[in-house]
Amino acid sequence: MRTLVVDHPLVAHKLTVLRDETTESPTFRNLADELVTLLAYEATRDVRVEDCAIVTPVAPTTGTKLAAPRPLVVPILRAGLGMLDGMMRLLPTAEVGFLGMVRNEETLEASTYAERLPDDLSGRQCYVLDPMLATGGTLAAAIRFLTNRGADHITAVCLLAAPEGCARLEDELAGLDVPVTVVVAAMDERLNEKGYIVPGLGDAGDRLYGVV
Ligand code: URA
Repeated sequence: MRTLVVDHPLVAHKLTVLRDETTESPTFRNLADELVTLLAYEATRDVRVEDCAIVTPVAPTTGTKLAAPRPLVVPILRAGLGMLDGMMRLLPTAEVGFLGMVRNEETLEASTYAERLPDDLSGRQCYVLDPMLATGGTLAAAIRFLTNRGADHITAVCLLAAPEGCARLEDELAGLDVPVTVVVAAMDERLNEKGYIVPGLGDAGDRLYGVV
């Protein structure tokens, strides 16, 4: 597993406003959207492309286009939904599948409550959207779900990660023969006793959708 922390002053600025507890949902949603687009630029560095012949107004030439099959973008419900538009801005022809996962707040384990994905993901590049890589349980389960269906290249896009979650993900994916990259805006200090990222930004779903 490769972890890429995107080091960019705009990412740092937007993340700081997101973290601020006084930032309200409408601003939070806009900033998350902008931040994901910046992360998406880095996350798509390995997107598969192929040569194509085109003719410009001046001359024929060879260009580059996204290869088939189309990449699949998978937001993990609920909070991953707040990252979808920001990702699709850069990959507008991607297919979108949905995975509903919920974390049991006592055991901190993830379970799947909904899925809308193609049965066969052979040869597909998947971009998983999950804002908070906290314990790593949800992301590990989502990645296993996708690779069990044949996905052969996974990039997770997260806003924040905790070192404990990255370590667990690395452990759980150790035997997996599929490249996994995690692209994140910042690696925070730790998890607290409730499984929240510290300093973090609180509950990403609640802050996106205005639940207090
Ligand atoms: N999920 C969140 O929304 N926030 C955290 O800090 C951890 C998990």
